[in-house]
Amino acid sequence: MQTVLALETSCDESAAALIQQDHGKIHLLASRIASQVAEHAKWGGVVPEIASRRHVEALPYLIGDVFSQTGLKPSDIDAVAATVAPGLAGALMVGSITGRTIAALNSLPFLGIHHLEGHLSSIFLGDRTLEAPYLVLLVSGGHTELIGVNEKKKFERYGRSHDDAAGEAFDKVARLLGLPYPGGPAIENMALKGDPTRFSLPKGRISLPTGGFHPYDFSFSGLKTAMLRKFESFNDAKERIPIEDLSASFEQVVAQVLVERSIRCAIEKGFKNLVMVGGVAANKRLRKLLNEKALEKSIEVYLAPIEFCTDNAAMVGAAALKRLECSSSSSSLELGVSPRWPLEDSEAFFNVEPPF
Ligand code: KG4
Ligand code: ZN
Repeated sequence: MQTVLALETSCDESAAALIQQDHGKIHLLASRIASQVAEHAKWGGVVPEIASRRHVEALPYLIGDVFSQTGLKPSDIDAVAATVAPGLAGALMVGSITGRTIAALNSLPFLGIHHLEGHLSSIFLGDRTLEAPYLVLLVSGGHTELIGVNEKKKFERYGRSHDDAAGEAFDKVARLLGLPYPGGPAIENMALKGDPTRFSLPKGRISLPTGGFHPYDFSFSGLKTAMLRKFESFNDAKERIPIEDLSASFEQVVAQVLVERSIRCAIEKGFKNLVMVGGVAANKRLRKLLNEKALEKSIEVYLAPIEFCTDNAAMVGAAALKRLECSSSSSSLELGVSPRWPLEDSEAFFNVEPPF
């Protein structure tokens, strides 16, 4: 049995969790999140300096809370994990320094975790067991990627967005429509009252130099521009902006694009299991469409539990437990943070000589 204290501070959520693995089964003991969303909402997006400062203030309380909720002490745990990349440098630094300090003071191993490996591991917080190989659709505010995980748990990227991430597109379109940040939940709410078939919107394709289109890549900039044009045409005509129908049509086309390309990739690359994680994976229209379309093709779908789709520390802890399960690897206490780092190279966090 192993117990890990996990920390997440890569963006605008400060989070701490205590999580345990016993005979391969993961048990979440306690998980606390302090969201800064309301504060950043005033500025229409995340302000890095504010984020770092709020992490410094919130993290000690969250850590205290998860220990007092479980009755555990630092001497009862086996390792400390924190997100070290990618994300806002100052924000990442708060979790990383806090984690390394707790590890050093208690002579515990420290594990630096890649934020996307955290999102990928949120799937292990659900009830069902999942065995590799599988294909993951990772859709968050910073990433839209199709990642294959093989039997050796190695990652291979098959698709990505060439401009905005899906969550970023939700956030920017929400802003255009006068809806609050974060845009995903706001658009989802509006879309409930709208007609998803009213507007025909582009599905954004990436041309290949050899002709044709990239089968698994994404682009949301054309869709964003199309939304702006629709908005302007109503504005210029001094007509009421049909926010509900615009939200529903936008949500529908994003869901269709994500589902169509993921299923095509799963079929063509021979994956029978398709996993969806990340903040946008909380979207109910997208979850429903993925389930329906995958069923038609006999692909098994695994969805991250809604409460662990957006940033949290439980997923970081699950990633650390999966690392500990495979080896006794730990990161150097000299490991710093990196705002950008490819998931495929996250092995380097466990090198004796840290990569950053
Ligand atoms: O994974 P996450 O919490 O942070 C990143 O790592 O980026 O994802 C946040 C993103 C935001 O862009 C937010 O608008 C989007 O996920 N999001 C949603 C929903 N809930 C959050 N997008 C669509 N529908 C939702 N229900
Ligand atoms: Zn995230």
